[in-house]
Amino acid sequence: MGRQTARYAVIGDPIGHSRSPAIHARFAEQTGQQLSYEAIRVPAGTLAVAVAGVAAAGGCGVNVTVPLKEEAFRFAGSRTERAERAGAVNTLVLDGPGAPLGDNTDGVGLVRDLKINLGVELAGRSLLVLGAGGAVRGILGPLLAERPLRLVIANRTARKAVDLALEFNDLGPVSGGGFEALADSRFDVVINGTAASLQGAALPLPETLIIDGGFAYDLVYASEPTPFLDWAGSHGIAGSADGLGMLVEQAAESFTLWRGVRPQTGPVIEALRAENTGS
Ligand code: ATR
Repeated sequence: MGRQTARYAVIGDPIGHSRSPAIHARFAEQTGQQLSYEAIRVPAGTLAVAVAGVAAAGGCGVNVTVPLKEEAFRFAGSRTERAERAGAVNTLVLDGPGAPLGDNTDGVGLVRDLKINLGVELAGRSLLVLGAGGAVRGILGPLLAERPLRLVIANRTARKAVDLALEFNDLGPVSGGGFEALADSRFDVVINGTAASLQGAALPLPETLIIDGGFAYDLVYASEPTPFLDWAGSHGIAGSADGLGMLVEQAAESFTLWRGVRPQTGPVIEALRAENTGS
């Protein structure tokens, strides 16, 4: 008698280029789990109907991406603490009747990529996060849980960074301001969470922002280095990474939550990287 195939999906709009089905297919193969995972285009405002459809078809879980993470947050019947802090949900667990559990695995995915895959120390270090939108809100709690010396948020609109820092300052030493306040500051790790990379735009950053031996990370992943990673490279920063590892790590965290088995991420990151560069 064959085991029943468990069904999963990622929903968002646009969704055509999502790497999640390929990532979860590799995880399933690696761990010997029998499951299907599809990408479904779900426009803003229609999440509830779409999730009900997945559940009715026997679905066990849903990943949620742009622009539905806040909608998923409101839709979830209960939420993990990290989802509460993020104000957004990227993982729904459909394990019975009623509204599902909502989790957010983005921030822990970033921290695991930095610490485990890239060997970047966060405890006791000076961290800078660029941007103050939804992507940044999702990573602040897990970053502060690593007990950095300090975490500074810098944003084009300074007020948003200040407000975000106030919202998270019960979790650790976090402050916020505009880019101009960075003039005389140095950081061990700088994480770009602005949408500037997506627009191919440069950020107004002082040359000496990152210490020698420091690290630059862009939450965005792309086949070409982002303008921010280019900037870091041209200022002598040898250590850098884009967000591909974070993408695979957040997927692994969702998979673990759903299946109770943690897949190996290293081989999957390597395989996707090879596809990305066409090598
Ligand atoms: P996301 O959910 O991806 O974080 P968002 O909530 O719209 O998207 O936030 C986008 C972030 O990128 C904001 O911090 C935004 O700065 P503002 O708050 O000043 O708008 C930042 N951003 C977008 N384009 C930028 C650019 N060209 N230069 C610098 N920051 C930019």
